[in-house]
Amino acid sequence: PAPAAAHVEALLASYADFPQPGIMFRDLNPVFADAAAFRAIIDDLADQHRGQFDAVAGIEARGFLLAAAVGYAANAAVLAVRKGGKLPGTVLTEEYNLEYGSARLELEVGQLPAGTRVLILDDVLATGGTIAATTRLIERAGYTLTGVGVVLELIDLHGRERLGTAPVHAIVSI
Ligand code: PRP
Ligand code: MG
Repeated sequence: PAPAAAHVEALLASYADFPQPGIMFRDLNPVFADAAAFRAIIDDLADQHRGQFDAVAGIEARGFLLAAAVGYAANAAVLAVRKGGKLPGTVLTEEYNLEYGSARLELEVGQLPAGTRVLILDDVLATGGTIAATTRLIERAGYTLTGVGVVLELIDLHGRERLGTAPVHAIVSI
């Protein structure tokens, strides 16, 4: 596998029945905690979509770790997509269902010009509800979604099928 994938496969931790019975929790913190692995995944996410985005949208909370670093590496603007109730002013809201529970995601309006090319980043693509909601926020805000990048895709949950036509790159799919 590519260097970034090898790092993820070596360091990914899995916890059965967390945070509730029946859920296999995938913990990427050991990947973030390894400097070489973190650099490899950030470079990979930036390279896979190079030249195709002007801004990255990171999804609270774990997507923030990726978006800040990829934004810096690629000289791109950074948008913070937040859980409901955290943002002031005029915000767009989307409801979504999680593998466990449901929630809201929000984006402030008017931060970037209409048509700005946006790359959505998150750690894990599971059922796809989180990224699908973010896709709707990006489009409602007038931006152009040009890609989705994740570190880990859980293929049995078919999240990719809930997303649109923008290219989805996963460093590791299991
Ligand atoms: C996790 C993960 C993804 C999302 C994937 O976030 O970080 O964002 O679930 O699930 P989905 O594809 O089924 O929507 P979570 O909502 O647990 O919150 P966190 O990032 O704040 O820890
Ligand atoms: Mg998350």
